[in-house]
Amino acid sequence: MPTTSELIFNLMPTLFVWLLGIVFAIIVVTFVFDISQSKNAILRNYPVVGHFRYLFSNLGEFFRQYFFAMDREEMPFNRAERQWVHRASSDKDNTIAFGSTKNLNIPGSIIFINCPFPMLDSDAVQTRAVTIGEGYSKHPYKASSIFNISGMSYGAISKPAVLALSGGAKKADCWMNTGEGGLSPYHLKGGADLVFQIGTAKYGVRNDDGSLSDQKLADIAQHDQVKMFEIKISQGAKPGKGGILPGIKVNTEISKIRGIPKGIDSISPNRHIEVSSSSELLDMINHVRDITERPVGFKTVIGHIRFLEDLLDEVNKRGVESAPDFITIDGGDGGTGAAPMALMDNVGLPLREALPLVVDTILKHGLEDRIKLIASGKMITPADVAWAICAGADFVTSARGFMFAIGCVQSLKCNKNTCPTGITTHNKRLQKGLDPENKSVKVANYVMNMTKTVEMIAHSCGVKEVHLLNRTHVRIVQPDGKSIPMNELYPLCTEGENE
Ligand SMILES: Cc1cc2nc3c(=O)[nH]c(=O)nc-3n(C[C@H](O)[C@H](O)[C@H](O)COP(=O)(O)O)c2cc1C
Repeated sequence: MPTTSELIFNLMPTLFVWLLGIVFAIIVVTFVFDISQSKNAILRNYPVVGHFRYLFSNLGEFFRQYFFAMDREEMPFNRAERQWVHRASSDKDNTIAFGSTKNLNIPGSIIFINCPFPMLDSDAVQTRAVTIGEGYSKHPYKASSIFNISGMSYGAISKPAVLALSGGAKKADCWMNTGEGGLSPYHLKGGADLVFQIGTAKYGVRNDDGSLSDQKLADIAQHDQVKMFEIKISQGAKPGKGGILPGIKVNTEISKIRGIPKGIDSISPNRHIEVSSSSELLDMINHVRDITERPVGFKTVIGHIRFLEDLLDEVNKRGVESAPDFITIDGGDGGTGAAPMALMDNVGLPLREALPLVVDTILKHGLEDRIKLIASGKMITPADVAWAICAGADFVTSARGFMFAIGCVQSLKCNKNTCPTGITTHNKRLQKGLDPENKSVKVANYVMNMTKTVEMIAHSCGVKEVHLLNRTHVRIVQPDGKSIPMNELYPLCTEGENE
């Protein structure tokens, strides 16, 4: 009587022949299918082998990142930038060896102007807190951190991701913006300072007809943690486009948080229905401030600066108290969960161009002490943040930087519910990998190391505190390869004006 292993061994040739037969049959069926279909030219002209083209272009997306792309090549963020964030958030040694891999001949590159006599650590002072809405809002907000978490709604990102960010923001003493999806219990759980965002669908503060509910707004302002309100006019990745939340995603919890009917598609209008001019925007800002008694500002991506000039002219007519307490400028190259490529790629100015324009417009109107400026849009490394402060921003916020801090690997799947790191998926199995407690420490490390390194740049430029950086401290490389100081490129804001 043969043993089981002998039996299997004897059957192997037969199994092999069967396997070959199956493979051959699949090839024949595919061949016949490919040549008889008329939808796909490649498969009709190259039956069977044509399928490899699709397989390889899918796999290429992954292989490029791991094997082929150079450190400074990938978009939207290259490996060098992502690794800086990963090391900073793990609080690991963030030095590099041998020499820089960054090509500084590319127009637009930034070069900080080191001082021959840099600041001694013993003379340097800690980055100071900046107060928003002081003297104009009943509850001004003293913000300690220059680097804060930009809006990402609960819905666009998962429950563990919101928990990690809110816990981390508390540890880091920075603020977290709720994004436009309303205030969830997970935002509150971490105990951090929150900025409540009012999107065009007014999730969380809407009446059934989509208009603003003063009562719900007042209820949100009752939460001590909610320090400011941000009216979203537009965001860099999709200016002029409201999102669609498919009914299938509107479960009982989301319907409660956002104040919309369960199971029905929810469409965000392209703009706030009551705001069609700068004057109406100012009306809305003042209305929200009256009700919430908190600093109120707006977030926008810049297309044409005239809209801001109109708004600030109107402020000067009505009186300085009517001004927004802050303005958030988002770069046209900002991120999102999902947006049409045409808007993502080609609409709205990148932050590098928009921010100096906005600062100059505020200066021209004499409102620089009144309106605080928040900058966002691919500001994920210390050089980016220091540049924004030099340009005239008071604060920087980041969304994708913090996604990297909690484990994002830039798989570009935020719109597919298949995010492998659990950040932008509601798939419970994928969320298992994201431990909110562990990742909250990474968020705090990221903020801490970011601040420390921006301070280091400031000291190298010879100033003792980060907010003393200004346009004389940075040069911008021009198309001819030479760099010129930023204050020559944008002469309105001169030395000391940021101080
Ligand atoms: C997943 C995701 C969700 C976002 N959700 C919002 C949102 O609800 N409201 C908003 O104003 N911006 C939203 N944004 C844009 C960011 O707040 C930010 O303005 C933009 O991504 C630029 O910053 P970054 O380059 O650091 O990511 C989202 C971005 C991402 C990546």
